[in-house]
Amino acid sequence: MRTQVAIIGAGPAGLLLSHLLALEGIESVVLERKSRQAIEETIKAGVLEQWVVDLLQDTGVGDRLMREATFHDGIELRFGRRRHHIDMAGLTGGKKVTIYAQHEVLKDLIAARLAQGGTILFNVRDVRLDNLQGPSPSIAFRLEDGREEILQSDFIAGCDGYHGPSRSYIPNRKEYLRHYPFGWLGILVEAPRAADELVYTNHERGFALLSTRTTDIQRYYLQVDPHDDLEAWPDDRIWDELERRVETEDGFFLPRGRIFQKNIVSVRSFVCETMQYGRLFIAGDAAHTVPPTGAKGLNLAAADVVHLARGLARYYLRGDDQWLDHYTDSCLRRVWRAEHFSWFMTSMLHQLPEHTDIDRKFQQAQLEYVVASEPAAQSLAENYVGLPVDW
Ligand code: APR
Ligand code: PHB
Repeated sequence: MRTQVAIIGAGPAGLLLSHLLALEGIESVVLERKSRQAIEETIKAGVLEQWVVDLLQDTGVGDRLMREATFHDGIELRFGRRRHHIDMAGLTGGKKVTIYAQHEVLKDLIAARLAQGGTILFNVRDVRLDNLQGPSPSIAFRLEDGREEILQSDFIAGCDGYHGPSRSYIPNRKEYLRHYPFGWLGILVEAPRAADELVYTNHERGFALLSTRTTDIQRYYLQVDPHDDLEAWPDDRIWDELERRVETEDGFFLPRGRIFQKNIVSVRSFVCETMQYGRLFIAGDAAHTVPPTGAKGLNLAAADVVHLARGLARYYLRGDDQWLDHYTDSCLRRVWRAEHFSWFMTSMLHQLPEHTDIDRKFQQAQLEYVVASEPAAQSLAENYVGLPVDW
């Protein structure tokens, strides 16, 4: 097999890259370890920055999103049993908070690629990369039926997430990593909406987040012990804990409902420098991960592949490889900004085991400042709705 750009991973990074390349007339093949069904059903986060919404719309994959997504003008910060509205749209010249589950974005991208004759091979195994410094790098892999196959290409895009193998092919990389001493327990619930916007809560028992999917399905999260498994969290315990953390002095009511999905994810900050080696470029979670508190994961993956698609387009259409040479630099400035913002939100809202009274006072002072000072709120809003892709 041969293609121009071989892409490993059919997550947001890999699929959006394949889509953007096709619009430039550049051919790609996507190799994915999981089945299409698994990709389309795995529950992940769901907040899109304004420019990502605009990009999906402008490139023809935003119709369902515009019909089905939830658009909010702001978020709520809740602490000391009080609610505080941050007016994102008002503070950023009209940019909104869009909630549309990641797997719905993936369904739309997969449908678009297949409708346009694109190739996505699901259920592949054992990808091995070779010849990354030469003009024709290749990927050996095993097809679903067990047959060995080799995909030759001009470039390889490693879009295979935090646990994928691509990153390990970059020698002399420097990895920056922080594990946080807590996880996020996420649930999907059949229940009416509890609030008009996302509620981020700082509580002495731990962080809680109320998000949404549709008018009838809600997505809630609790800060939990990172070593907890789901058995430790029967439904009643989840509801009791959520209720205690999000209660307000004005009597906030959290409607309960059937919990039909639960998972626990670990929380980390991670960046790999550099993001390229010869003809290999890594993008998205393969190169960096953020704690989910800033809602940046999918958006950072999208920004990387916009830069990568531009660099590849310059190469194929103009024979200019300078943009590709500077791929890492054009991504990392934004990546570190988002890493810092995600760490900032995480630090402001979670309880750490080592926290003492003074740490809680610091958090409270920061929260009071963010909700009372317009410049402070504006800084949070600017980061939350997303800096421009070329930032
Ligand atoms: N071979 C083929 N595919 C692989 C391999 C492999 N060896 N290893 C991983 N993959 C696939 C995974 O199955 C997954 O579908 O790569 C894909 C990576 O997707 P994501 O982990 O979603 O990463 P990315 O596309 O960078 O998107 C980042 O996704 O998980 C969220 O929080 C994350 O929002 C962020 C966004
Ligand atoms: C979600 O809806 O899944 C979600 C929302 C906000 C976050 C993280 C996840 O910060």
